[in-house]
Amino acid sequence: MTYEYLIVERKDAVAIVTVNRPDKLNALNGQTIGELDAVFSDLAGDPAVGGAVLTGAGDKAFVAGADVGALKAEGPVGGRELAARGQGVFRRIEELGKPVVAAVNGFALGGGCELAMACHVRLASENATFGAPEVKLGLMCGYGGTLRLPRLVGKGRALEMLLTGERVDAQEAFRIGLVNRVFPKDQLLPEAEALVRRMLANAPASLRFTIESVNAGLDLPSAQAQEREAALFGLLCSTEDMSEGTRAFLEKRPARFRGR
Ligand code: COA
Repeated sequence: MTYEYLIVERKDAVAIVTVNRPDKLNALNGQTIGELDAVFSDLAGDPAVGGAVLTGAGDKAFVAGADVGALKAEGPVGGRELAARGQGVFRRIEELGKPVVAAVNGFALGGGCELAMACHVRLASENATFGAPEVKLGLMCGYGGTLRLPRLVGKGRALEMLLTGERVDAQEAFRIGLVNRVFPKDQLLPEAEALVRRMLANAPASLRFTIESVNAGLDLPSAQAQEREAALFGLLCSTEDMSEGTRAFLEKRPARFRGR
């Protein structure tokens, strides 16, 4: 499949997805949102793909937000639909069942910050900046930002960012837990890819169910979430990979997982 605003590169089990609209700092117009939906749906269903890195084209931006030009034309019904559509696409990423690492290589503002937060882990380059400037436009986050930011950095820090619209640099983002690590620019993509590969050394169903359980645990009441965790744990006990992983440990050798 070919995309107008995405570049998709397969490096065996790792897909590198690059939002490619650098002249607009990779701002998310409707088509780019649709293409993100299509690509992650494709990656979800492709057994050859174990995980993905998501980044932005050019030197300046990961994604500088939703496309303000397109937003400006929206009325209340269209605005609500636009937000709901983006939320659905970002949930697809969050619930992919395969690890997605955001390699944040510059501005991650508004919808760009929300997109990074929908990924499972965020790594940043030293020039990355994060922010939710929607309030400066008479708007607010509409792609899950008011939910994911407080879960990542705590309510107080989240509200400071959401209500001031001010940006934080990569070091501050690291300090508050918005990103896991900061790298010099040229090391960011190799480090992000290496991180995905370290995850993919583990059993695929373990990764899938762990993501599912963490997501459920943040949304469901604790008793329900624990029930689900136990059920998923039980399901893993039926897999060949569980037999192999436990046997390999006892035989003091590396496990050879086959995704079964
Ligand atoms: N939507 C649409 N276009 C955008 C955009 C966005 N979110 N962010 C950047 N662009 C466009 C600019 O309009 C400009 O296009 P032009 O060359 O046709 O005029 C181009 O990308 C380069 O941006 P520019 O503003 O010239 O770069 P800069 O280095 O001076 O500033 C930013 C960079 C990120 C600080 C600034 O572009 C910005 O504030 N963007 C909007 C961020 C935002 O509010 N996002 C949330 C939207 S809800």
